[in-house]
Amino acid sequence: MKNDKINILFVCLGNICRSPMAEFCMKDLIKKAGLEDRFEVASAATSTEEIWNGIGNPVYPPAREELARHGLSCEGKRAVQMNREDYGKYDLLIGMDHNNLRNMRRICGGDPEGKIHLLMDYTPNPHDVADPWWTGDFETTWQDIDEGCRALLAELEM
Ligand code: 4NP
Repeated sequence: MKNDKINILFVCLGNICRSPMAEFCMKDLIKKAGLEDRFEVASAATSTEEIWNGIGNPVYPPAREELARHGLSCEGKRAVQMNREDYGKYDLLIGMDHNNLRNMRRICGGDPEGKIHLLMDYTPNPHDVADPWWTGDFETTWQDIDEGCRALLAELEM
């Protein structure tokens, strides 16, 4: 992106649960910190699972409801797939789990500039973000994402 902001892309498999939750969590933390002029945040999928004829699905309702419980709206967000050009556009490409990281490196042709990271690696307790697709537990996913985004923002503010 041709701007002087720090551009962050959150990435998961479908872009309907974890990475949109991270996108809107991070945007809120940035807004509350008064840092909106310093960051650009988006999210994308590694797969086309949630994209049909080029049109992405909206955020999965339980993920949308979890965001709403924290006062956040994801209105208008639809799933998009990341591509190799995103590696040049973004300063940081943040995956939710190790499978995401593997797929991101495949899409980007590696990670020559060290831009691809695991969200929870910014915390004192690195692990994959809990995947609510299988557990149905969106609250635990939110807690991971909130912790990870706070840690990421703290690192970038330093
Ligand atoms: P997300 O969740 O990667 O957190 O958006 C999933 C969405 C779709 C599928 C799996 C996980 N799927 O298999 O279609």
